[in-house]
Amino acid sequence: MKKIAVLTSGGDSPGMNAAVRAVVRTAIYNNIEVYGVYHGYQGLVEDDIHKLELGSVGDTIQRGGTFLFSARCPEFKEEDVRKVAIENLRKREIEGLVVIGGDGSYRGAQRISEECKEIQTIGIPGTIDNDINGTDFTIGFDTALNTIIDSVDKIRDTASSHARTFIVEVMGRDCGDLALWAGLSVGAETIVVPEVNTEIKEVAEKIEQGIKRGKKHSIVMVAEGCMSGQECAEELSKYINIDTRVSVLGHIQRGGSPSGADRVLASRLGGHAVELLMSGETAKGVGIKHNQLTATPFDEIFGHSDHKFDKQIYQLAKELSI
Ligand code: F6P
Repeated sequence: MKKIAVLTSGGDSPGMNAAVRAVVRTAIYNNIEVYGVYHGYQGLVEDDIHKLELGSVGDTIQRGGTFLFSARCPEFKEEDVRKVAIENLRKREIEGLVVIGGDGSYRGAQRISEECKEIQTIGIPGTIDNDINGTDFTIGFDTALNTIIDSVDKIRDTASSHARTFIVEVMGRDCGDLALWAGLSVGAETIVVPEVNTEIKEVAEKIEQGIKRGKKHSIVMVAEGCMSGQECAEELSKYINIDTRVSVLGHIQRGGSPSGADRVLASRLGGHAVELLMSGETAKGVGIKHNQLTATPFDEIFGHSDHKFDKQIYQLAKELSI
């Protein structure tokens, strides 16, 4: 293998730069030329592809976002559009493509490897949502979790001063992991996630019991994929008359300097992706399971869910927040 390319795609996540850096440096260490594709699949189509050197990724490991920029590119579902992208890789004799993103981004990579056998593809899970099969953790999840914890710790101060119930809406389009892990970490009274059916009437009863026991405030952690914070507040108001406020953390969760855990994860996965390309692997997503590096065929990643919602953590959070 002599030349590879790397791109970041979909919603950005803290640690993507660290992953790109690991891809670039592992490749150059092994005498492989690396090209950066700017603006995700859009840049692949528009030929926004530039050679990266060791120095191109200097001073990036600590930066949030992605210096390669990211984009959502629905047009990449069209075969004609992909043909242009493939041609842009072929004319540079690029034999391997590393795609850092969520499973929508993996689907683009899978199509490329199906439609052009000379180009190997490897996916690296980069999303704060922690919703990708084939890995216990995605790059950015830990940083986003810590951002939520930091924010809710602050919310708790004002919630306590005013004896209010705060409904905190966090990201997670289809997956409740951010709400679950953050809920446990901040001692939220209730965690509302898409994976568990929650009766808002019971949430109201729990808050009421807490108030009777002298609780000064309550935190309800809601995953956006289940309902919005506003909807949750409106539902609650049907059963209980309390002073509530809604706080939507929004894109704050996607930014910031990556945590130590995310830098290490991104570096390990980036290095592993290049090693897999060098050993001839293709159409696989790298991951970490029980602290071991793994590679799972895209077909399996899309085919069945091994990223199970952790019911034990959910139950524990429930028991610890009575
Ligand atoms: O997939 C990551 C994510 O941050 C989701 O949690 C969220 O629903 C979505 O992206 C937001 O996307 P956008 O930045 O395009 O609005």
